[in-house]
Amino acid sequence: MSYPVLITGAASGIGRATAVALANTGRSLVLWDIQAGPLAELAAELAVPTTIAAFDVTDTEKRHEAYAAARTAQGGFSGLVHAAGVSGPEPISAFTSEAWGRTIDINLTTAAVMTHELADDLANSGEGAIVYISSIEGYFGHAWLPAYCTSKAGLLGLARAAGHELAARGVRINCVCPGAIETPMLAPLLASDDFRNSITMRTPLGRVGRPDDIADAIVFLLSQQARFITGTSLVVDGGLTSIGGI
Ligand SMILES: NC(=O)c1ccc[n+]([C@@H]2O[C@H](COP(=O)([O-])OP(=O)(O)OC[C@H]3O[C@@H](n4cnc5c(N)ncnc54)[C@H](O)[C@@H]3O)[C@@H](O)[C@H]2O)c1
Repeated sequence: MSYPVLITGAASGIGRATAVALANTGRSLVLWDIQAGPLAELAAELAVPTTIAAFDVTDTEKRHEAYAAARTAQGGFSGLVHAAGVSGPEPISAFTSEAWGRTIDINLTTAAVMTHELADDLANSGEGAIVYISSIEGYFGHAWLPAYCTSKAGLLGLARAAGHELAARGVRINCVCPGAIETPMLAPLLASDDFRNSITMRTPLGRVGRPDDIADAIVFLLSQQARFITGTSLVVDGGLTSIGGI
């Protein structure tokens, strides 16, 4: 029997869709998010063993309590999906170290520290795999999103470097880079018809992405079908960046 996959940011959007998709393949789950209500509602819908914890994933003490509770309930971990993220719009001209630090901490540093903390579990599982949710913003730059773009580019480097080290222990690490996806994070932008139409027109596959488009790519990268893939990224954007990006 497989150990569970831990998903951060599981209460909403891409993390939530990933929980549903993994449950549909029979994988057991550990789900973390800062939003307690939606997390409990999701867990009640899933028909696989599921352990939940609602807290800020940057909180080291709470993370260690939640690891311990999950190990007691389900024995260990076989996968990690770091989907918790914030966009933190703030141009460099309005830089504050507090806003910059918070975005980098949630999006990037927590991915690194959790990779360190889970390395033994993932290696011992014999099928360990990690997926960080980067973004096409990891390849592009936007004036209003410097911390976000930096955090997402950082995840690409982290997957290469940590993937190199942990390959020797049989643990694979990859990124998924979504394009524009219909989630609460992008809702304020997609509420504008101009933005939505502009994305749709510039996407060869002709629509805004859905959370399950990304979840299916994550399920693949966690599975044995991806057994020879590590240290790289998979762009899932309907072709948006193939013709020049956003
Ligand atoms: N929506 C898009 O178009 C898009 C595109 C590229 C990348 N992404 C990335 O996908 C990931 C998921 O985003 P989404 O679009 O599903 O957004 P979302 O807002 O629906 O989900 C993000 C989740 O992370 C949780 N979260 C945020 N900070 C947290 C913290 N400190 N502790 C615990 N939980 C926390 C939120 O509560 C939320 O449930 C993010 O990393 C985002 O940057 C999204």
